[in-house]
Amino acid sequence: MVLQQLKTILKKAFSQAGFNQIEPKMIVSNRPDLCDYQSDSCFMLAKQLHQNPWDIAQKVLLELQKDKGNETIFAKIDIVRPGFLNFTLADQFLTNCVERMLTQPKFGLEVPNKQETYVLDYGGPNVAKPLHVGHLRSAIVGESVKRIIEWYGHKVISDVHLGDYGLQIGQVIYGAILDHKQPKDLTLQYLDTIYPKMSALSKTDEVVKEKCAQITKELQEGNAEYKEYWKAIVSISKADIARIYDYLDVHFDYWLGESDSYQDIPALEKYLNDRSLLYTSQGARVMDIAEDTDKKEMPPLLFQKSNGAYLYATTDFATIWQRIRDWDPDHILYFTDIRQAQHFESVFRACKKAGLIQNGRPQLEFCGFGTVNGVDGKPFKTRAGDSPKLDSLFRQVKEVFMGIKESNKQASQEDLDKIVNAIIKFADLQNAKERDYIFDIQKFSNIVGKTGPYILYTYLRVKNILMSNTIDNHNQSGIIYNEIDRKLRLELLKYFTIMPVAMETKSPSVICDYVYNLCTVTNSFYESNRISTLENLQQKQDWCVLLACVEKVMHQLFHIIGMEAPSVM
Ligand code: ARG
Repeated sequence: MVLQQLKTILKKAFSQAGFNQIEPKMIVSNRPDLCDYQSDSCFMLAKQLHQNPWDIAQKVLLELQKDKGNETIFAKIDIVRPGFLNFTLADQFLTNCVERMLTQPKFGLEVPNKQETYVLDYGGPNVAKPLHVGHLRSAIVGESVKRIIEWYGHKVISDVHLGDYGLQIGQVIYGAILDHKQPKDLTLQYLDTIYPKMSALSKTDEVVKEKCAQITKELQEGNAEYKEYWKAIVSISKADIARIYDYLDVHFDYWLGESDSYQDIPALEKYLNDRSLLYTSQGARVMDIAEDTDKKEMPPLLFQKSNGAYLYATTDFATIWQRIRDWDPDHILYFTDIRQAQHFESVFRACKKAGLIQNGRPQLEFCGFGTVNGVDGKPFKTRAGDSPKLDSLFRQVKEVFMGIKESNKQASQEDLDKIVNAIIKFADLQNAKERDYIFDIQKFSNIVGKTGPYILYTYLRVKNILMSNTIDNHNQSGIIYNEIDRKLRLELLKYFTIMPVAMETKSPSVICDYVYNLCTVTNSFYESNRISTLENLQQKQDWCVLLACVEKVMHQLFHIIGMEAPSVM
């Protein structure tokens, strides 16, 4: 890939000039008016050697010029005071780079030789409770990070980790019993009403609260009657959750839940007891996780309550145990609200202390995300004041989009669903995941601005040009016809710079920024160059190849974001 190639050239020149002390860096130019790529490594070296950066730059330049091979790669290499190295690519080389992107797997992205195994824990919906906006980010961010990692050739195992054994189950079972309902009588509509009712009641009525907790505990201990209710609740709720994930094009290899981890708790407990890691404190079983270097107090991990019940930390601990045993992963990544950071910190520490992590494997990583806020800056709410169910959010987005202009109403249902997905996902993923953001449906449904519709519209424009101007081969003249032509080609090459960052930091926002920039440059290209009216056939061909590459890269990155283009817009 091009950036790697340029780095190798630079490294060779530094080395021939006698500078082996550093790994020189090559970056995309931040002065595109002066050059395409640049290096400021002379400064770093100058500091280290107590020399003048200008002298170093001169020596390196000399070596670069000596190498005849560089003449086909660079049109110009300059040094600029106080010691920058500026590179302008040769037109032929630049067009070749773009052409090569079209033919190479992953557009020529360098991926690691060693495939690693990643377990991704995202989604995390709670059975019997409706999926709400709070669960949206986990699904969308997790799915996108999964696709980034897969693009890098790693193996990903995704697990939704259902919250299927919590207090809400006891509340629903108790409600059903009070209503004289048998497990077979339960329906989705019933669950939707009984959970909020019982949850509210538990807040005001101590007896009810106690009873629900008792049922939950007995269920966990294997009570047969409750198990029948539980099975019915899980099956109804899971089908509904799956339907919503399907709508969002979010998919899991495993649908395991907290309940599954109960099978592994006894073995884990024995393992910990054998090593004397658990002790009794006020009747509860706890584990110390404090470390000498701690600046703040780190309370012990609560493994089992005094009444015998296990907790959220226990199930996560046991789940890691199961994942290591069954899948032997190199990494386990968690996508939840950033407010769960402390919980995961405790669990991760416990795993380390218990020796579950051997030679740094698996690496446990918490990817916390911020809150989705409404235009008022407070957590996104419906008019009634509660957190909207995802179904009604989808409906609302669709309505807003259709209301924007008359022609939007003509779109097919299938296209509308794709657009709704793009609006929501592009609004969400363009933010650094750890930050809160304001979900302004009106703004993100618009075709102008950094929005899903803008991106889709640009893509369809490119597709249309390619459809009405067919090309028979990829042969290019090597000519670059104007500034915006050059700019678009350089923008394409930035793919090689941003992908490693997205992978390294597990950040879909890096991809969104790039897609957006690629779209704005593509639009200026389109507006200043009318391809269909061109008389020069070679030029037409050259530009179609360029746009074919834009189309392919966008298409792949859409997949990573989880967007699909509608047929028309
Ligand atoms: N069900 C949890 C919640 O709604 C999220 C689960 C996240 N994953 C995990 N392994 N704890 O908060």
